[in-house]
Amino acid sequence: MTDDILEIMTADKLPSPDERLQQEFNRWADAGEGEKMERHHLDITEKTMRLMDLRAGERVLDMGCGSGWATRMLARMVGGARPGFGQVVGIDISDEMVRQARASSKDFKNVRFEVGSAAQIPWEGNSFDKVLSVESFYYYPDQERALAELFRVMAPRGRLFVLINLYKDNPYSLQWVPKLKVPVHVRSAAEYVELLKAHGFENVEYKLIPDDTPTPENYQTTSFHSLDDLKAFKKIGALLLMASKPDLRNPARG
Ligand SMILES: C[S@@+](CC[C@H](N)C(=O)[O-])C[C@H]1O[C@@H](n2cnc3c(N)ncnc32)[C@H](O)[C@@H]1O
Repeated sequence: MTDDILEIMTADKLPSPDERLQQEFNRWADAGEGEKMERHHLDITEKTMRLMDLRAGERVLDMGCGSGWATRMLARMVGGARPGFGQVVGIDISDEMVRQARASSKDFKNVRFEVGSAAQIPWEGNSFDKVLSVESFYYYPDQERALAELFRVMAPRGRLFVLINLYKDNPYSLQWVPKLKVPVHVRSAAEYVELLKAHGFENVEYKLIPDDTPTPENYQTTSFHSLDDLKAFKKIGALLLMASKPDLRNPARG
């Protein structure tokens, strides 16, 4: 009896999957990883932004924005339009990442950052013309719920761009899985396409985005078994999922 009660009490104290993510990415932020990720993700993100066909005045969401460097790049691309348009919102589960993102974005009038989970995006429906998510989606504990939420906040005919570095078809990326301190999803491109279609997205397609950043011969990698594996990983590249929301509006909540 006493043991049962103890077990229940311990279970009660276990952090939820979202709390674990927040703790882990707060740790990353404190260790300066938010800034470092810009270097690691810049090449594939720039290539993705070129495909996004961004225009002045568009409203954009950066889901899992980390320290906000990509959010600021998006803000430069869509800013300068009429007041209230050309806004970019960065949302992240890590309050420490969001604190850093806000601190680095004081000069931007068209950027806003919020702490929030992909499972419950703190924004009203039908809002965003474009959504970008860089290296974040495979961490979402409930990817189906995250897709339903992304669908909800996207404007009718809005476009979704999800970059994923950890996926089945790039076998080198699987070397990280045992090193990560939080669970991740490992799906193939074909499985992701089916998932997006099942959630009502249209024009679902994918593209592999190689990372053409040169790898210095003296680079110390902790994530890969060898420098050759890192180079092979970059050559295959990241998975970019692209999709549209159909021309429909979600009803207001409640
Ligand atoms: C690998 S980092 C990438 C950050 C940023 N996009 C970049 O490229 O620098 C993953 C980010 O996703 C965020 N994240 C993970 N799970 C999340 C969730 N369920 N909801 C919202 N953000 C999440 C983390 O806090 C972290 O900042």
